[in-house]
Amino acid sequence: MKQITVSAPGKLMLLGEHAVVYNHPCLVTAVGQRMKATIEKIDISELHIEAPDVNVTDYKKLITDVGSGDIPKGAKFVEIAVKNFKEKHPFLGGIKVTTSSEFSSLFGFGSSSASTVCVIKALSELFDIKLDEKGIFDLAYKTVLDIQGKGSGFDIAAAVYGGTLYYLTGGKKIEKLPIKSLSLIVGYSGIKADTATLVNKVAAKAKEYPEVIDTIYNKIEELVEKTKEYLLAEDWGHLGELMNVNQEYLEKLDVSIPKLDEMIKAARDAGAFGAKLSGAGGGDCMIAIASPETKKSIEKAIEKAGGQIIQINTNVEGVRVEI
Ligand code: MEV
Repeated sequence: MKQITVSAPGKLMLLGEHAVVYNHPCLVTAVGQRMKATIEKIDISELHIEAPDVNVTDYKKLITDVGSGDIPKGAKFVEIAVKNFKEKHPFLGGIKVTTSSEFSSLFGFGSSSASTVCVIKALSELFDIKLDEKGIFDLAYKTVLDIQGKGSGFDIAAAVYGGTLYYLTGGKKIEKLPIKSLSLIVGYSGIKADTATLVNKVAAKAKEYPEVIDTIYNKIEELVEKTKEYLLAEDWGHLGELMNVNQEYLEKLDVSIPKLDEMIKAARDAGAFGAKLSGAGGGDCMIAIASPETKKSIEKAIEKAGGQIIQINTNVEGVRVEI
């Protein structure tokens, strides 16, 4: 039976988290630890999922029942992606989806979004449906919204387009920035963050103090616009300074935590141009930008503060078929 394997990168938010949920831009880079999905046609009308990384093994469902009934947490994104694809591009017969990840789903690199993108791309290849990048983005973003209700879709864009993007909520703008390199130090806090909880926490704050939070979002947008210029000019010093300012606003939104604050301070004290949390906050990762000469000592300082260094490539290729 015909089968296809695709892979998609994870992501790291550079600047603009939270504000991007509310119609402001952000900057995101695709990271080179990838999610993989293999899809094959099977000769019974069922959906089979094997996703051992998220504890889903030997999961089987009638293809006519896809999207309904109980769905285990680890199978949700794959199953709803199949449902959304099938509704738009009906196909006959059954399929087996097998996913695997080069990175832990704990890091906050966007494993659910990357696997959603993999499934949509693999199905389009398997059934010979021509989908361009925006077509894949739209179906994958719909899947995430169906499951989470909220979300800017920046992680979907990183998985589809790759590279380093200037991105506006819902994919209203997706601009690939022509940069050659972006060297980031990434420290994992060891604490798993729950994006929905943090987004809701900020939403509750915005309800209570709409003008205050709106002002913060507008300030973050200004930082994103300026940082975009520094990124294009490869001016890492200024970029680092603005990362530090963005972190202050994230602290004002109350999404940072002491562990991240300590890792960020350690990186700055060891000579980083700048450091901030990356993503929703509440745990996951922090990022720092530094000269190659100071990289090693910054990594040591982050480890001393209790963080785990994760070696990644940035600015990597988006979703692709694997041979
Ligand atoms: C989470 O990684 C980033 C947020 O901005 C949520 C989103 O953009 O969907 C907090």
